[in-house]
Amino acid sequence: MIFARVAGTGSFLPGDPVTNDDLVARGIDTSDEWIAERTGIRARHLAEPDVTASQLAYEASIRAIEAAGCQPSDIDLIIVATSTPDYIFPSTATLLQAKLGIGNGGAAFDLQAVCAGFAYALTTAEKFICSGSHKRALVVGAEVFSRSLDWKDSGTCVLFGDGAGAVVLEASEAPGILASALHADGSHNPILCVPGQVSRGAVTGDPFLRMDGQAVFKFAVKVLADVAREVAALGGLALDEVDWLIPHQANIRIIQATGKRLGLSMDKVIATVAMHGNTSAASIPLALDLAVRDGRIQPGHKVILEGIGGGFAWGAALIQF
Ligand code: UT7
Repeated sequence: MIFARVAGTGSFLPGDPVTNDDLVARGIDTSDEWIAERTGIRARHLAEPDVTASQLAYEASIRAIEAAGCQPSDIDLIIVATSTPDYIFPSTATLLQAKLGIGNGGAAFDLQAVCAGFAYALTTAEKFICSGSHKRALVVGAEVFSRSLDWKDSGTCVLFGDGAGAVVLEASEAPGILASALHADGSHNPILCVPGQVSRGAVTGDPFLRMDGQAVFKFAVKVLADVAREVAALGGLALDEVDWLIPHQANIRIIQATGKRLGLSMDKVIATVAMHGNTSAASIPLALDLAVRDGRIQPGHKVILEGIGGGFAWGAALIQF
């Protein structure tokens, strides 16, 4: 049996942290107290105007490839999860492939599932590897979400940040991704969206992120708990046999409520939202890389990672390291 095993992780954050007080100093109508109390966010990273998702993806990818002990030329599949691509086309994945210098005919494509993007991309790459068609995938979540924010809307602009995380996923006889589950319910589209587009040379509709925060909050807590239970059951594990939970990093209150529903102590939950804010598709691989590099995630550990975002789309994977 072929498994898909995480061989290496990497991440990258642009520039210095921008604190809540820095946002206040930039004229945003908010306060450190409000943001910290409602979300747990203390800082985020914001890319300079000329920095793109493919550049962040490249920096995260070279770190993941180095950690995996392989070469860029060993990669035969690239999937980039992003809602903030460099261009309408070509895909950010092909731009990343070119930056890595591996225009060798391997497959490369973007995947759009917003904040669930990394869970979707990892699960998709797993299917390619377990089918035997591909041997080594680079799976990336990369976002410059600051580009989609209405900086006059303090209800949303303080929540998000930029960054990228990547994993190298390779074919292996040892496990591996043990289970995964993906879901969507498109009837919730208007609750969290950027409802604009470019048409006939002009932006039509609203090009900024719009969100009903409380509706997202309630839905997220429910499905993040449900899908974590689902992948644990699919993998034949009780939740207390799981070493780490890495939920999407949007709000510490969502993360805490999810942990509570699952009966998991916060000691087993990786939380980076305080430092990164919500980096959408990048949030899970950023948190994963941090916990691998600081030694919390050890070989043999079983980890559930899970995301939820616009659509709604949500999903999870149970991984043995
Ligand atoms: O990746 C998935 C995407 N998003 C999420 O997961 C977000 C999910 N939702 C949330 O995290 C929370 O709902 C928010 C953080 C967005 C909001 O927290 P809340 O506790 O639901 O607050 P609220 O929307 O009910 O707002 C409460 C008050 C309002 O004032 P009034 O009407 O009570 O006077 C807002 O105008 O807070 C005000 N407010 C702010 N005040 C200072 C909203 N944003 C801000 C702000 N600074 N940045």
